[in-house]
Amino acid sequence: MTDTPRAPLPDSTLPLVIEGYEMIRRRRRFLKADVFQGRLLLEPTIFMGGAAAAELFYDESRFSRADAAPALVLKTLFGEGGVQGLDDEAHRARKGMFMSLMTRAALERFVPMLTDAWEERLERWHDEDSVVLLHEAHVALCAAACEFAGLQLRNERIEELAGHCFDMIDGFGTGGPPAWLKARRARLAEEEWARQVVRDVREGRRSPEPGTAAHVFSLPHGQTPALPVEIAAVELLNVIRPIVAIARFVAYAAVALHEHPRLMYRLRQDDTLLVPFVQEVRRFYPFTPLLGARARRDFTWGGARFEEGTLTILDVYGTNRDPASWSQPDLFAPERFVDREPGKFELIPQGGGDFGTGHRCAGEWLTIEALKESVRFLTRRIRYSVPAQELGWSTRRIPARPRDGVVIREIREATPAVQVTPPRRSTV
Ligand code: HEM
Repeated sequence: MTDTPRAPLPDSTLPLVIEGYEMIRRRRRFLKADVFQGRLLLEPTIFMGGAAAAELFYDESRFSRADAAPALVLKTLFGEGGVQGLDDEAHRARKGMFMSLMTRAALERFVPMLTDAWEERLERWHDEDSVVLLHEAHVALCAAACEFAGLQLRNERIEELAGHCFDMIDGFGTGGPPAWLKARRARLAEEEWARQVVRDVREGRRSPEPGTAAHVFSLPHGQTPALPVEIAAVELLNVIRPIVAIARFVAYAAVALHEHPRLMYRLRQDDTLLVPFVQEVRRFYPFTPLLGARARRDFTWGGARFEEGTLTILDVYGTNRDPASWSQPDLFAPERFVDREPGKFELIPQGGGDFGTGHRCAGEWLTIEALKESVRFLTRRIRYSVPAQELGWSTRRIPARPRDGVVIREIREATPAVQVTPPRRSTV
């Protein structure tokens, strides 16, 4: 790694904790290089960003995921033994289980579940002066996630599970010991619950529909024998938790709508800008900061020497804002996605490359559908005002979120004429 630019400090752990999302991007700019070497927790590490680096990162012949995720992330966000840390055939078989949940028909079933969940929230808002949208989105998405996963839960339990998912997500990064502890406790509680779900399905006490996550992960799937209970539980949560996580993007979408009234106006009229808006929310706002993998063998790339086992970090946030791929990357401009299909390695808020063979997020299509539906709800189903509050976020805190969670008030229904997707059930 000797010819490769080097991070200014011997170890980048403290800069990462202090600077958060911007750390790698700043070093790349300062060093004028897409790849540089440094250390993370004292371990020699290569940091890289940009579309070409992302393409390299997703080359399975060069990188593996085993032992790449830090223990903190496994114990809070991912769970241990899940698909994220698998390679090769084992990964493909497990990923196939996830992708079987994401067929076009399955996504078409999911959207009305979410519409209903938003309608249920709306019914409750009649009695409230104001609500915190981030919280409401967590509960709505959790209700839809459970139904989609083949589970029927009481409302109080959905609220509790949504809260635990929030804790797992909020505590995987730089939140410090209080956030880490909450996340750990939430994971332990929900893994225990998910193991019981798996046992209930196996022993006939629950009968989720075939093709739902509760069914697919609890029972043998195609040629794949039934997973150990612990792993099945982790994977069941690997569907529910990230669906709930979409709430952050919903909150960011509300910030964007508030800060760009012309977009609110356009989105109320028709769907022309809906997908570009959703794509820009995913590109622009900070969520996944970086990803890690380990070099499988020795090789050289971009002047950098990767030795077998080298920890390699991909700058996700900085790739989504890389000036080589995006003009004025720090500007929120959905129009950039009109007539542009982003490359597989340029827009990587949920990973890059291929879904089936690589580690790209299994839930990306579902995320886009959920965001489209939630934006429709915010722009066409309701009207509301946004009182003075802190709508900003800190890029120093991983994971970021709008500080006050986006408080909205004076919520009322829009006239039915502008409602595009009718709810399945009457809410009157
Ligand atoms: C807020 C929305 C989401 C974000 C920001 C997000 C982000 C990501 C990222 C960055 C990865 C890692 C890619 C890699 O390792 O190369 C990933 C993987 C994954 N995501 Fe998501 N995701 C989201 C929603 C979802 C949803 C809705 C689901 C499922 C229903 C899901 C399931 C998964 C799974 C199973 C993986 C592991 C894939 C693999 O290792 O092959 N995610 N996601």
